[in-house]
Formats: sequence, structure tokens, C-alpha cells
Amino acid sequence: MARIRTAVFPVAGRGTRFLPATKASPKEMLPIVDKPLIQYAVEEALAAGVEKLVFVTGSSKRSIEDHFDVDTELERTLAESGKEDLLALVRDIVPPHVSCLYVRQGVPLGLGHAVLCARPAVGDEPFFVHLADDLIYSDVPCLKQMHDQYSQHGCSVLGVETVPRDQTGSYGIVAVTAEPSGLQRIERIVEKPRPEEAPSNLAVVGRYVLTPAVFDKLESTGRGAGGEIQLTDAIADLLADEAVYVLPFAGTRYDCGSKIGYLRATVEYALRHPELGENFKAYLEAVWER
Ligand code: UTP
Repeated sequence: MARIRTAVFPVAGRGTRFLPATKASPKEMLPIVDKPLIQYAVEEALAAGVEKLVFVTGSSKRSIEDHFDVDTELERTLAESGKEDLLALVRDIVPPHVSCLYVRQGVPLGLGHAVLCARPAVGDEPFFVHLADDLIYSDVPCLKQMHDQYSQHGCSVLGVETVPRDQTGSYGIVAVTAEPSGLQRIERIVEKPRPEEAPSNLAVVGRYVLTPAVFDKLESTGRGAGGEIQLTDAIADLLADEAVYVLPFAGTRYDCGSKIGYLRATVEYALRHPELGENFKAYLEAVWER
């Protein structure tokens, strides 16, 4: 079975929940401790064997392109001042055999539209979609877990987790049936259903393996929930032609598109940080006792 070589990062959303921080700077550049969200995303894709990184960008996203470019001046300054450790940090973000492609989504018409914009850069192959604001901490990188499952059947795979019933309106929600193999196949998928209409409380989060057949479906997907072209609606169409599976991945997800999720991630990544963890824990305990 073909290895997945391409990851698509839709980063053209407006990030309105994080205004004014995201007015001139993309939410994907918000740092968790010392790395921007988009770098965690790229590292996860590289760990899954990806060689082509496709960023779907929009206005005010220049800093993402700059982040993955070589900064010769910065590298020279660090080298001249003997800061070899920092030099390695800025130099090794993207290995030389990996290419970065940038595609513009002129108007943010929705996640489905953003994925469709990536079509010329992806071609006729299966690919990952990774939403950087869903940060996932896990022993085995989440996209690697997804690739491992994809290797069993060659079909699309959606990363899922159980959410409280009252939150179904924030997610794509799936109804699944278990196959004898243990794999869970999607029967139905609905975007942002009200809790009383949701077919389950199993929510799609920002990790996908998609077959290229989804592009034809996206071409004919009209505007759905919230007036946006929804990836969920195209996947619902795909179900008529192909099996689509879910992966309840192992790991902890932080919704960094929301302020509370972002703060949780910041605190927990700081506590795990090899240099900061001890100090930060002591600080939190002192704050708690105040
Ligand atoms: P979100 O639903 O989080 O939307 O998009 P958003 O616009 O970024 O943020 P809020 O809700 O206004 O705060 C999920 C992902 O899809 C991308 C976003 O960048 C994010 O990674 N996206 C969304 C696009 O690339 N284009 C779009 O038109 C919409």
C-alpha cells in the first residue's frame, strides 16, 4: 500500500475566538511554552514519515512561511556568538529532504474549501489533514497511529474522541459500527448537530487520513453549517462510495483554538518541560497556597 507522503495544514481560518491576539498574527503561531502550534504540527507529520508539507494560508499568515524558511542572518549571528544549541533549534525545523508548499485560500469559505485549495499540491494520492489548533500529546505521534491503521485497509481514517453530549454542536459527530476485525466503520457523519439530534457523542478532531476521492466530493459540496463549505459534508458523500474508519487515538487533546484549552496546554507542556518543569511546578504550588 502507498505510504502517505503529504500533510495538509489548513491555516487560513480567522481565529476569531482568540482576537485580538490573532488580528495580525495567525493563531497557529501562538506558542505553547517555546514552540508555535504549527511547529508541533509539522513535527507530528514528520514523525509519520511525511515528505511534503502543504500549508493552506490566507491573509496575515506571512509569519508561518517565514518560520519554516532558512533565516541565514539569524543563523550567522547565533553561529558567531557560539550559541550552537540555539542554532540547532532554528536550523533543524524542517529536514532538507522535506518540501514546503504554500497555497492561498483567498477567502476563508470553510475547512472543506481550504482542503480543496490544496488539491493541485496533493495530487492523486492519500494525504493527511492536520489542524494545528488541536494539539495532541501522545507516546506515539497521532498521525503515526493513523498511518498504522490506514496501512491495514487503505481507506480514509478520522481521528475521534468522546465529548460531553452538550458539546456535540462544536464538532463533526459520527455514528459507527464495529467490524469483526475490531475496526470501527462510519455509518453516518453530521456537522455540528444539536445534542438531541447527534447520532452519538463521538467527535471528529483535527486529524484525518483522506483518499483523493474526497476532492471530487468537495467540488460539489455546497455551503453547510455556519454557511461554510464543510469537510464533514464531503466525507458524508464519500461514505456512499468508500469505507471510512475512525481511530479513537491514544493521547490527550488540547483545543488550543479556545482560550481555556490553550491555557491547559501551556500549563501541562510547561510541567513536562525538561528544563522548566520542576521550577514551574513549585511556582504553581506557591500560587495555589496564596
Ligand atoms: P476553526 O473552526 O477553528 O475556525 O477552523 P477558525 O476560523 O480558525 O477559528 P475561530 O472559530 O474563528 O476562532 C479549523 C481549522 O480550519 C482552518 C483553520 O485555520 C483551523 O486550522 N480553516 C478554517 C481554514 O484554513 N480555512 C477556513 O476557511 C476555515
